[in-house]
Amino acid sequence: MTIGVLGGTGAQGRGLAIRWARAGLKVVIGSRSADRAEQAAKEIVEIAGGDVTGQDNAGCAASADIVLAAVPWEGHAELLESLRSQLAGKIVVDCVNPLGFDKKGPFALPVPEGSAAQQAEQLLPESRVTAAFHHVSAVALADLSVDHVDLDVLVLGDDREATDVVRALAGVIPGVRGVYGGRLRNAHQVEALTANLIAINRRYKAHAGLRITDI
Ligand SMILES: NC(=O)c1ccc[n+]([C@@H]2O[C@H](COP(=O)([O-])OP(=O)(O)OC[C@H]3O[C@@H](n4cnc5c(N)ncnc54)[C@H](OP(=O)(O)O)[C@@H]3O)[C@@H](O)[C@H]2O)c1
Repeated sequence: MTIGVLGGTGAQGRGLAIRWARAGLKVVIGSRSADRAEQAAKEIVEIAGGDVTGQDNAGCAASADIVLAAVPWEGHAELLESLRSQLAGKIVVDCVNPLGFDKKGPFALPVPEGSAAQQAEQLLPESRVTAAFHHVSAVALADLSVDHVDLDVLVLGDDREATDVVRALAGVIPGVRGVYGGRLRNAHQVEALTANLIAINRRYKAHAGLRITDI
């Protein structure tokens, strides 16, 4: 199974790619520039080993079985819309948090479709859209000396088989458990909760995560 990471040159995509490469999964880094993607792939292999290559975002989407969207909210709609045919029939994992920042700190932006994940669902009608990895810290992911990334990853989606696959992708990261978190229409509050976690991180100088009890 090959995992594509759109925007994999950035902090979050790179962090997840490092963990997936370390777990022995085949990864393709995507970028708006094939050169930047190849460079990031080389750096990830130096850190984590494994089978990591780089392509432009379209090549990445075409060559992967499962594709993570790890780009800023500002570029989310345009990028996904441009990759509709390459992403058809595939599991798409959206980790995008539509957030704003002002002098009072982080806050959730209103999204006409309800959430970034629901925007992805509307733009990619032939894909199996899921949402996950909103709360995991890119810093903890990229640091392989962190051998227990202490949080549950909420996985949302309307396709049970797809959410099970994504839960398993979370579970290969040491310490992490993938937990089904509801249908895609419930993604807004999961994305928005990231603003609270960032506020917690700033106050306590931490990489805070969530644990779900009694399951
Ligand atoms: N950082 C975290 O700890 C964290 C945690 C959870 C979720 N997230 C979410 O993950 C996503 C990525 O976060 P990040 O911190 O990795 O962001 P980032 O480093 O700012 O961006 C990731 C990559 O996206 C590409 N990109 C930038 N602007 C773009 C645009 N307008 N259109 C298409 N591609 C664009 C860039 O790659 P190229 O220039 O190479 O194309 C960049 O390296 C965000 O939506 C964020 O909410 C982040």
